Amino acid sequence: MSVRVPRDEAIDVRDLVPEWIQRLAAYPPGMPLEELEREYGITGSIKLASNENPFGPSPRALAAITDALGSLHRYPDGSGFYLRRALAGRIGVPADAIILGNGSNDIIELTARAFLREGDEAVMADQAFVIYQMVVQATGAVPRPVPLRNYTHDLEAIARAITPATKLVFLANPNNPTGTIYKRDEWEDFLAAVPPQVLVVADDAYADYVEDADYPDSLAYQRRGRLLLTLRTFSKIHGLAALRIGYGVGPLDVVALLNRIRQPFNVNALAQVAALAALDDAEHVARTRANNREGLAFLRAACERLGRPSVPSWANFLLIDVGDATRVYDALLRRGVIVRPMDVYNFPRHLRVTVGTPAENERFVTSLEAVLGESR
Ligand SMILES: Cc1ncc(COP(=O)(O)O)c(C=O)c1O
Repeated sequence: MSVRVPRDEAIDVRDLVPEWIQRLAAYPPGMPLEELEREYGITGSIKLASNENPFGPSPRALAAITDALGSLHRYPDGSGFYLRRALAGRIGVPADAIILGNGSNDIIELTARAFLREGDEAVMADQAFVIYQMVVQATGAVPRPVPLRNYTHDLEAIARAITPATKLVFLANPNNPTGTIYKRDEWEDFLAAVPPQVLVVADDAYADYVEDADYPDSLAYQRRGRLLLTLRTFSKIHGLAALRIGYGVGPLDVVALLNRIRQPFNVNALAQVAALAALDDAEHVARTRANNREGLAFLRAACERLGRPSVPSWANFLLIDVGDATRVYDALLRRGVIVRPMDVYNFPRHLRVTVGTPAENERFVTSLEAVLGESR
């Protein structure tokens, strides 16, 4: 029998956790489609808020999941043997240079936990993926955000922000939420400037969308004897965001350390088989990439026509200056179009819009035009 003991009112649990945890704010999740429809009493809404693949998962991944359902009573393969072997073959590194994560977010967190202690520093762009600063703060270390320059990582300033206390640098290329990239020359100068004992985490979550000859895929810089961890994900072009699977590629000793603090079954069995199948689905990837190219061009042109500045993007989303972003966001919601307001990223005038199917892009533009017209 359990007995409920009333808690002493004098106890404030916040006093029980370190002060850097007290100062953390929870990650604000996007609005689920179903909730929007219930709240506004509408149907047929579209979600262009979380940089997901508008075509859904690869059909091959779905077939692999179906085949694996009968084995749900088994624990997943804690080593991710088949998937790591397949990735290693493609990338040209040993399988032990690869760690799988429950989303690449998992590996971002593992890296912070492994490398940082109270008082250490980690450098990142101020308007880059918010998770970097959150995981750093959760360890008691100090995030050192560096301003973007023209919506783009300022690698020179980031290198200058490194101090003897710096253990990690987080970079997102393309950056979320701006969609911009740094180019090969800047990247190589940056690598030359970073002290050898600082681990550079290159988060290339959107790399598969980039079609630019000057894009430095950080996987190509592995095995050059430096502390570099590349992060990739199956959440974006492979369309498996719900399954939560990503991976890191880095020096063997770095990956071995991360494995020490990884949960033994951090990547579920369905995610592993789906990712393996999705890797081989070149057609799905190519179709998604082509749709993205056309969708970005369509959205950019529409913004120009509507007189709304947008930031040139190499990813699967576009950052648009709509002026009164709160009003425009709410008005779009009421029309059944979910996008992402960017105040968390300190872009109070901007919305981030994921490239959808042609019909979804069209619907977004028509709705945006109507909403902007309402304010005139
Ligand atoms: C730059 C960047 N890195 C990592 C992630 C997280 O991806 P995952 O779903 O693999 O955790 C995202 C997701 O939006 C992202 O924008």
